[in-house]
Amino acid sequence: MKIVNIVGARPNFMKIAPLIREMRKHSDIIPLLVHTGQHYDLNMAGHFFEDLDIPPPDVSLEVGSGSHAYQTGEVMKRLEPVLEYERPDVMVVVGDVNSTLAAALTAVKLQISVAHVEAGLRSFDRSMPEEINRLLTDAISDYLFVTEESGIHNLVSEGVGKDKMFFVGNVMIDSLEASRRLWTRSTILEQLGLKKGHYGVVTLHRPTNVDDLHILKGIIGALADAALQLPIVFPVHPRTLKSLETLTEFHSVLYFGKGPVLSGRIHCMEPIGYLDFMSLVASARMVLTDSGGLQEETTVLGIPCLTLRETTERPVTVTHGTNCVIGSSPARISAEVARIMQAPLPTPIPPPLWDGRASQRIVDVLLGRVHR
Ligand code: UD1
Repeated sequence: MKIVNIVGARPNFMKIAPLIREMRKHSDIIPLLVHTGQHYDLNMAGHFFEDLDIPPPDVSLEVGSGSHAYQTGEVMKRLEPVLEYERPDVMVVVGDVNSTLAAALTAVKLQISVAHVEAGLRSFDRSMPEEINRLLTDAISDYLFVTEESGIHNLVSEGVGKDKMFFVGNVMIDSLEASRRLWTRSTILEQLGLKKGHYGVVTLHRPTNVDDLHILKGIIGALADAALQLPIVFPVHPRTLKSLETLTEFHSVLYFGKGPVLSGRIHCMEPIGYLDFMSLVASARMVLTDSGGLQEETTVLGIPCLTLRETTERPVTVTHGTNCVIGSSPARISAEVARIMQAPLPTPIPPPLWDGRASQRIVDVLLGRVHR
């Protein structure tokens, strides 16, 4: 069985790594890896191959940055001849980025079966490019691998047949568990002069938060207040950096230098690799983020997570986890930070099947060992 696996952007790498590892255990599977190059530099892509022990891609499409139409179109144009040549039995796509949809669309038109890992998640906010990517990818996929029960309900209400759906758990958590021994050995806390449980981690990259400077100023103002009580570490996404550089009024608060993280300023740094980042998150007092994956990782690690968005497509992180979806108003952010500072740390109870074995279940289905 020949399986083409697609990666493109940063959140794809930790999802594909455990799948490739699992496929390589089976002599009857030939796994190929195609990297679209949606993310291309060391901080956003390269280091993740190393940290997660992902084999070098068999094919690199080197698509790079651009508008949504450009990225989607270029992935399709460059992937089509690869699929025509390789003629895989199945193509696996993960998550909700432009590369996910572009690859799925290319394969389905060549009548190659598509497996979507992380199917069925819905924010019900169609202004998010990821929501469009999820809806369309699910509509054309043959195997829908679901991480949480809400995914099944969403797909059923869209009229998808149950024979396509498989509730398998979360491959992102497979990566977290498989590399736990490695990330617990990271020295990032010592390097940054941080004490376990005495700092906050921030990540922001959603266009609604970082491209709108009025909203971004409000968030940074609230983070500056939080930094007076709790040192704040902020690995900055390239999209966010472009906006932060224009916020001259915050230049004394946004610190981009080396040295230890100190209270009173927001310690900005380049995006960091997977192992150092997991180590940083696992020992934090709280995380403030607009990422999807981080809502899941904090749920399993038992770290309080404030999601600076109006919606989440991952409701199980609220019902079972540590996630609180609070939007981006400065007053609410300050109130929630104060609340968490007073509260005891939660005890993690992972959602059903978030046990590190999702990839195994997915490969069993692809090999035809599971029947509906
Ligand atoms: C993409 C995904 C988003 C995911 C995020 C994780 C879509 C629609 N969005 O958004 O779902 O959460 O990745 O990061 O697919 N850049 C670099 N180096 C890189 C890659 C990008 O500097 O290696 C810069 C680009 O020049 C661009 C910006 O980052 O200006 C945004 O990159 P892009 O891939 O367009 O979207 P993301 O915001 O990263």
